[in-house]
Amino acid sequence: MTQYKYLLTEKDMPTHWYNIVADMETPPPPYRHPATLELLGPDDLAPVFPQALIEQEVSAERWIEIPEEVQDVLKMWRPAPLYRAHRWEKQLDTPARIYYKWEGVSPPGSHKPNTAIAQCYYARQEGLEGFATETGAGQWGSALSFATQFFGLKCKVFMVTISYHQKPYRRVMMETWGGSVVPSPSSETNAGRVILAQDPETTGSLGIAISEAIEYAVTHDGWKYSLGSVVNFVLLHQTVIGLEAKKQMEMAGDYPDIVIGCAGGGSNAAGLIYPFMQDKLTGTKPNLRAMFVESSACPSMTRGQYAYDWGDTAKTGPVTKMHTVGHGFIPAPVHAGGLRYHGMAPTICHLLSNEQAEARAYHQIEIFDAAHSFARAEGFIVAPETAHAIKAVYDEAMACKEAGEDKVILFNASGHGHFDLSAYDAYHGKDLLDYELEEDRLERALEDLPEIAE
Ligand SMILES: Cc1ncc(COP(=O)(O)O)c(C=O)c1O
Repeated sequence: MTQYKYLLTEKDMPTHWYNIVADMETPPPPYRHPATLELLGPDDLAPVFPQALIEQEVSAERWIEIPEEVQDVLKMWRPAPLYRAHRWEKQLDTPARIYYKWEGVSPPGSHKPNTAIAQCYYARQEGLEGFATETGAGQWGSALSFATQFFGLKCKVFMVTISYHQKPYRRVMMETWGGSVVPSPSSETNAGRVILAQDPETTGSLGIAISEAIEYAVTHDGWKYSLGSVVNFVLLHQTVIGLEAKKQMEMAGDYPDIVIGCAGGGSNAAGLIYPFMQDKLTGTKPNLRAMFVESSACPSMTRGQYAYDWGDTAKTGPVTKMHTVGHGFIPAPVHAGGLRYHGMAPTICHLLSNEQAEARAYHQIEIFDAAHSFARAEGFIVAPETAHAIKAVYDEAMACKEAGEDKVILFNASGHGHFDLSAYDAYHGKDLLDYELEEDRLERALEDLPEIAE
């Protein structure tokens, strides 16, 4: 009998997160202070992040225990199902075997609450009053608004202006869960006011919204900043995805040749990929391919520089070595708001620079072509961010067809697109644009990187 999905029970859920740094030959380069550019110590991060998260950020422990209370809230929707895309394989007429982990089952609709819940747990432990954060497409802001309620915290969200207007229902969702949302840049912070004075019509960027959220957090007593991607502790919390998927692939009697995820800051992709990557790093699966897929409108991994850069536009966050298109870069207003971040998770960049992983970029019309092909076979209407992973899977499945190879492809379906239907509507009306990023614009954006001798 054909099996379509692989389900775990609550008893099978991971009890520990996996920290990939423990299995890297060398750790990624350390963070630098945003003002002095000297090495950053854990104390420098104390005004910004809860202490327990700072400890996780610098931890070299391979396994970190998931507190029971965090596991309990995750049980609201986890373990998440793993599907075999039989119908899509048939439609594509490919010999490839395609599997996907479906993270759209969480109440906010994506993988993001996997870390939001953990962060709120530690914030409450520290006695905080609230978390300030940024959001692009609104998935992260929704996840944090959702999570704060379970731990009695307040939530302030700076939402990139373009998405604030493109996705009004995401704002309503955040407000339903008690979050307070403002478009960014806003007049509530110095960082926002400076940008608005330069360009009152700006569509905003994640880099600006991060600056506003950090400023809000450090200028309000009892508040700290919550980040939804990029840093080690976020990627760590997301490994529940891959740890579950490994068990489910075992149930299916398969092991992936290629693992794929879309990457904005890299958290959902790393969440799925890293537990499999452990097998590559420790030598049991040396040929495993790990693929991170970005937007051509914000091509940090495929066209950016691997260099030290600030994590935010106002240069208040840590400086880190990463693939970047420059902290001041404002990407074209593509619908995949969550892929409009100028940098990338340092651990992913480290793997890329060691040629242990690969990266790819796609334009928005082709990713919507792929999302439609997937929706018509598998039913799920995915977020535009997720559609980038789907396009890569599509290309790999077609390559298998051409070569007559039956590779096993696993990808992370990071979220549903139910609040992105205006983007689908634009695609149907042939109103979507592809944005070609000119080389000189990219060069200008990369002019203001810090100079750090290594
Ligand atoms: C559904 C979905 N997938 C992917 C992303 C990209 O973020 P990350 O690379 O951290 O997973 C986002 C970000 O908003 C998202 O909402």
